[in-house]
Amino acid sequence: MVKDLELGAEIIRSGGLVSFPTETVYGLGANALDPFAVARIFETKERPAFDPLIVHVADFQQIREIAHWEDPRLQLLADRFWPGPLTLILSKTDNVPDLVTSGLSTVGVRMPNHPVALELIRRSGCPIAAPSANKFGHLSPTRAEHVKRNLPEVDLVLDGGPTQYGLESTIVRLAEDGFQILRPGGITREDLLAVLPESKAQLKIGSPQAPGMMHSHYSPRKPLYLIDPGSDSKNDTATMGFIGFQKPSGRDYLKEILLAPTGDLREYASRLFNALHELENSDVTAIEAVRVPEIGLGIAIMDRLRKAAYSYQDKL
Ligand code: TXA
Ligand code: MG
Repeated sequence: MVKDLELGAEIIRSGGLVSFPTETVYGLGANALDPFAVARIFETKERPAFDPLIVHVADFQQIREIAHWEDPRLQLLADRFWPGPLTLILSKTDNVPDLVTSGLSTVGVRMPNHPVALELIRRSGCPIAAPSANKFGHLSPTRAEHVKRNLPEVDLVLDGGPTQYGLESTIVRLAEDGFQILRPGGITREDLLAVLPESKAQLKIGSPQAPGMMHSHYSPRKPLYLIDPGSDSKNDTATMGFIGFQKPSGRDYLKEILLAPTGDLREYASRLFNALHELENSDVTAIEAVRVPEIGLGIAIMDRLRKAAYSYQDKL
């Protein structure tokens, strides 16, 4: 891995792309301060230029180069959750190319909690802009093999095994009287309120401040339908895949995956994208997934499931 890390850093320094593991999903990284390198991310992902990127840092010195860090609440959040799956929307400095932020005056910043990601950033000597390493709108990768299969053109994929959280970071923007969650993730509203107890907390998914938050996203290449726990499928399940929580479907699905045998939502989240990758590459014609309760981490899980199922929702 040390040799690969050195090669990765060399590729980043010379304007190339490296896919690397984080604790959430695999990222597709480039030197955040090099607009030509960042342009390659957009090309490779076929990502629209209006969808800004998250910049990954390894220390606070790097943050000061790219963003303003005056609000004392930022340090409280960083002390509690960094390195970790929290992205903070900060007012940016002129060092950050417009392409990274899609012309916004703010930049999303996070310090990932993964030794490979942190070491790659340190050795590269620059902050690394990285979206999830998938074609735009498709499933996020939680294993190196997902990246290699779907983005074979990437110069180097650093393999760190399956990712721990399996869902992208929680994106937070501070407001005068509280904070807004622009994308729910592994750090929940309750976790944030424990650090900022006097705050108003708003869930603001789909706001214009987060142009990437479309209705349809994270989509498998097979139709995905959401069903209520205990409800019976109206479809021909013999050709379909099933994603459940803890309880077997009791039906004759072609393939059945239970994501949380011990009943833990964290287990479900960490395995969800892999299950969708597995089913989209199997013989099943379509997938049915059981809705999970929208409390705590369930909010982030249902956000991903709903977006993944969005294009198919009228057909059930
Ligand atoms: O866990 C993660 O955050 C992963 C890993 C690789 O770090 N990254 C990730 O990036 O999920 P991506 O590009 O797939 O999603 C980033 C989202 C975009 O949908 C974008 O709209 C939002 O972050 N975003 C980035 N900068 C923003 C800004 N300045 N204001 C509002 N939203 C922003
Ligand atoms: Mg993404």
